[in-house]
Amino acid sequence: MSLLSEINTDQLPNHIAIIMDGNGRWAKSKGLLRSIGHQNGAKTVKEIVETCAKINVKYLTLYAFSTENWNRPKLEVELLMKLLISSLKKEVKTLQKNNIKLSTIGNLNSLPTKVAKELKDVIEKTKDNNRLTLTLALSYGSQEELIKTIKEISLKVKNNLISPENIDKSVINNHLYDHYLPDVDLLIRTSGEQRISNFLLWEIAYAELFFSDILWPDFNKENLFEAILNYQNRERRFGKTSDQLK
Ligand code: FPP
Repeated sequence: MSLLSEINTDQLPNHIAIIMDGNGRWAKSKGLLRSIGHQNGAKTVKEIVETCAKINVKYLTLYAFSTENWNRPKLEVELLMKLLISSLKKEVKTLQKNNIKLSTIGNLNSLPTKVAKELKDVIEKTKDNNRLTLTLALSYGSQEELIKTIKEISLKVKNNLISPENIDKSVINNHLYDHYLPDVDLLIRTSGEQRISNFLLWEIAYAELFFSDILWPDFNKENLFEAILNYQNRERRFGKTSDQLK
């Protein structure tokens, strides 16, 4: 029986973020090329995105390519970029059918022109969708994002557009790559690694962390339900005591 029946639909995480890890190890364990691991990882992306839309999660953010991933072998980087373009072309219909809005965070200027063009196209086509916002983190690094934010705010202070005492959480939020992204409620990382790897450092301040041993290509909707159930059984205190929450 599906774990879905055990999920309390009134207490879903509003924003799920996922570090999709283990494509390479999945391929290696089967004697396959890393590229096949990434292709199967893309199939998992489709299943998890459709499931989040179906159960009414409002925000899903996927770590698809980090700033550090540029250091991978050239051929692998090229393959990941091609996979991104083909997935976008193929799945734009799925996004429309499920009322999903695509968005991105990261240094998009560093992406190949073809990728940036395809992304812009799908972002434009899906801009009025409102069931789920799917954000792809591409050429993304949280520390770089915070440096960019600090530079922009410093410049405004220098030009007397804002005074230092007025800098608060919302000012910082407004300077991040995508200021519509709410704080993360549940952060999932697959493949057994227990690291944050420069992902959404600001937005995960109060996120619940869930580490799964499953490699990303094998991760499926039941594993997602397991993570959500685990999240629902935790007490989120946001610095308060248990008694204060009652
Ligand atoms: C981590 O596995 C995964 C990535 C670096 C890229 C994620 C990309 C996909 C899931 C494919 C396509 C994505 C979209 C959005 C269509 P790894 O290569 O680091 O695995 P390893 O740690 O086992 O080597």
